[in-house]
Amino acid sequence: MSEKNVNHIKWMKRAIHLASLGDGKTSPNPKVGAVILDKNGNIISEGFHQKAGMPHAEAMALNNLKKDAVGGSMYVNLEPCCHQGKTPPCVDKVISSGIKEIYVSIKDPDKRVSGKGIKLLKEAGIKVHLGLCKKESLELNKAFVYRNITDKTYGVLKWAMSIDGRIGLKNGKSKWITNEESRSLVHTLRADFDAIIIGGNTLRKDNPLLTTRGSKNPEPLRVVFTKSLNLPAKSHLWHCDLAKTLVIYDSSTANESLLTRIPPNVEVEKVSSDNPELISKLLAKRGCNKILWECGPKLATEAIKYNCIQEIITFIAPKILGGENSMNPFGDFKFKEMHEIIKLSDSEVSLIGNDICVRSQFEK
Ligand SMILES: NC(=O)c1ccc[n+]([C@@H]2O[C@H](COP(=O)([O-])OP(=O)(O)OC[C@H]3O[C@@H](n4cnc5c(N)ncnc54)[C@H](OP(=O)(O)O)[C@@H]3O)[C@@H](O)[C@H]2O)c1
Ligand SMILES: [Zn+2]
Repeated sequence: MSEKNVNHIKWMKRAIHLASLGDGKTSPNPKVGAVILDKNGNIISEGFHQKAGMPHAEAMALNNLKKDAVGGSMYVNLEPCCHQGKTPPCVDKVISSGIKEIYVSIKDPDKRVSGKGIKLLKEAGIKVHLGLCKKESLELNKAFVYRNITDKTYGVLKWAMSIDGRIGLKNGKSKWITNEESRSLVHTLRADFDAIIIGGNTLRKDNPLLTTRGSKNPEPLRVVFTKSLNLPAKSHLWHCDLAKTLVIYDSSTANESLLTRIPPNVEVEKVSSDNPELISKLLAKRGCNKILWECGPKLATEAIKYNCIQEIITFIAPKILGGENSMNPFGDFKFKEMHEIIKLSDSEVSLIGNDICVRSQFEK
């Protein structure tokens, strides 16, 4: 690899690193970082998208220029936008800066941009190089890309279990399977998500808080999916000063007279069936890129069946609950042959004290 190429990779990796500083904060927007070099190849500015509504990475970098960018180059991990959103199009700003070359890692999957930004840059006489560090950029923005391609949210399912694969006793007692360290890791992990979902039964049995305990502001949206609307009149989720709560119910089965139990500060939406895909689509429409399913076996099984889960995170504690009086993490998938079973890939394993944390992807 030539020295010049090594430098291009170095600057694009810098842009990707800057983009990652927006982790968990940019939805519905992507994570984007930008680096600007002057015509002699010296860095003169950089920027990243901090939050939806704030300047885009390219605009931030161009606003912070220490020197004239005429004849210089830009490295950015996503195609610059060409539409008026909450902020003006970045393409116009790049063109008027006098930059003559731009390295773009991936095209923006957003249908309003997708290739049009690159076309405008080329038409303005800017040399565009597409595809540098593509794999890393796709990984960084996989949830944003997934939502734009499928109109669904990128789903991660999380559960805690004993070494014999049990999530709690059948009488509902499950506190605590994993150690304190794992549980506090779950709180910080939630900061990477736009929403956390549980089923109505987990609300009734566990009365969870579902917050990051302050590591994200605002906290992720807390979502309860219920078929019956038989939810408790008192619950932590009804206190929305900590985090917002949304109840989604299936209007084909719910007893709507029970809506009076839900306080007015809690948002309520109805869907036409209990298909979890409707949740995924509804949340995608609201701008959620990545959601964490923390439900019990019933909803988790359906969410997998309907392709709402792309990744899993499980915490495994060195404890044994035994068979008859304990719960499985999943219900029945009705597999009859081994080739039908769900296979996961790209597993990462870590030790959290005495617990084991496994992250895996669903095979595409
Ligand atoms: N160890 C862990 O990681 C972990 C995590 C979560 C839960 N749990 C345990 O799991 C137990 C609850 O299990 P669960 O399976 O009943 O909880 P769940 O999956 O969270 O809740 C099931 C409820 O989800 C609602 N729902 C909406 N659409 C559905 C669909 N398509 N299919 C199925 N349910 C749908 C229904 O609510 P309505 O009944 O309101 O209509 C249903 O009863 C609790 O004891 C809890 O402690 C353990
Ligand atoms: Zn932009």
